[in-house]
Amino acid sequence: MSKTRLGINIDHVATLRNARGGAHPDPVRAALLAEENGADGITAHLREDRRHISDQDITNLISNISVPLNLEMAPTEEMLKIACNHLPNAVCIVPEKREEKTTEGGLDLLKSMLKLKKYISILSEKNIRVSLFIEPDNTQVEAAHELGAPVVEFHVGSYCNNFTTDQVSKEYKKILSAVKTADRLGIESHAGHGIGFDHVKSIASITSIKELNIGHFIIGESIYIGLGNAIKKMRKLIDEVN
Ligand code: PXP
Repeated sequence: MSKTRLGINIDHVATLRNARGGAHPDPVRAALLAEENGADGITAHLREDRRHISDQDITNLISNISVPLNLEMAPTEEMLKIACNHLPNAVCIVPEKREEKTTEGGLDLLKSMLKLKKYISILSEKNIRVSLFIEPDNTQVEAAHELGAPVVEFHVGSYCNNFTTDQVSKEYKKILSAVKTADRLGIESHAGHGIGFDHVKSIASITSIKELNIGHFIIGESIYIGLGNAIKKMRKLIDEVN
């Protein structure tokens, strides 16, 4: 069985840098450290308001890292152009609302089928592997299939946020069911959002989930134990169930 890939999202290194407006801490240095400590890929979200990652960060990441770059972006013409210019290994299309603190939910694919079909086709022609960030919901997985998406990333925020409540098993069942549908339709499953040390094993033990993208918890935890150690610990927890 292949190991679950670990993608490290370095957005919040840029959040910290931007709090002072200087150049420190540099997301590229964090990405290189992530590579050294077991990351299989680096994820960065270039938001429309550039609140954390900048265009220059994307250029710098592409020229410096040796693991694949997964660019998260909203489905806009501006972002499509940027992706086609930079040619990251993968693009994860995410919904974006200016006022939100973070990506609060998945895309509603049914609302923008035509636009997404065009984006998937243009990006795929450039050899960029496209994933769609969706809720663990069978209707959305079926829509992803209709769109020809090779990958979906499940927003597991509701599961992680409800981990200590009696909602947890309901949320977990939704993930299991959506992953099963993706399997049946030949779509690769990834998962992300809100994953920490407490939740990672139950998610990584779903063998059809091939990749986890984790950011905020790891960057936060690195304040206490260092970035390298936080990544190594996450990798170890994943490996224990692989
Ligand atoms: N995957 C996607 C598509 C995301 O948008 C995000 C963050 O917004 C993540 C993964 C990482 O989530 P977190 O920072 O909560 O680990």
